[in-house]
Amino acid sequence: MSQKLRLGVNIDHVATIRNARGIAHPDPIRAARMAAEAGADGITAHLREDRRHISDEDIERLSDQIDLPLNLEMAATDEMLAIALQHKPHAACIVPEKREELTTEGGLDAHGGENHLRRYVDEMVKAGIRVSLFIDPEESQLRSARRLGAPVVELHTGCYAEAGPETWEAELERLRRAAALAADLGLECHAGHGLSYDNVGPVAAIPNLVELNIGHFLIGEAIFGGLDSAIKRMRALMDQARAEALGNRSA
Ligand code: PXP
Repeated sequence: MSQKLRLGVNIDHVATIRNARGIAHPDPIRAARMAAEAGADGITAHLREDRRHISDEDIERLSDQIDLPLNLEMAATDEMLAIALQHKPHAACIVPEKREELTTEGGLDAHGGENHLRRYVDEMVKAGIRVSLFIDPEESQLRSARRLGAPVVELHTGCYAEAGPETWEAELERLRRAAALAADLGLECHAGHGLSYDNVGPVAAIPNLVELNIGHFLIGEAIFGGLDSAIKRMRALMDQARAEALGNRSA
């Protein structure tokens, strides 16, 4: 089990608020700087095809001005591949993208899309970018990620986050099994989507998860108590759950 669980802070929705006015404030790069000071281990930003939040200039500034590793979320398109190869972020997470969706509404179909994805994974891996695939916690998707040669997978936690009391435990178990299989397959395993103070603990306790990427809740919570305090509290909840899980294992 990994001792330290990394927290990647997704700053997309700082840009969403900025873009609502079409001015420069609030600046997502300032948020990234604050996130670094508050204990984030990485910055995640999704450059969407429609540029609804993060802009090309944001990616440029994040690459140039922020010391934390940048995780660029991107669709598997030639336009995004060119941008990734230009900036060479620390990591690139390939996500599915539909224009009409409000957010990334499900995992990438790595299994059905192996032929399409292969070139994107290959070219970015060759360029030294740590490629991850944002997939549902399913065996077929994990095995495809392995076949594609992606070193990392990120498990979509949306079904867990949205589950009611009857399905919550089953969804958590799906994540646990997928994380265990990822480790067996030699894949580094991350998770994210819909995580909050209320639901992060059981996910943080899952052995083999090494990184959580969290955005919407943190930016929303920052309205009430500030970004620094939201990130510190999330970090503390993650660390506490991980420490308890480690303690239970050695007991
Ligand atoms: N990970 C990935 C790959 C994502 O696309 C997103 C945003 O949908 C997140 C994590 C963060 O999700 P949220 O904003 O719900 O915390």
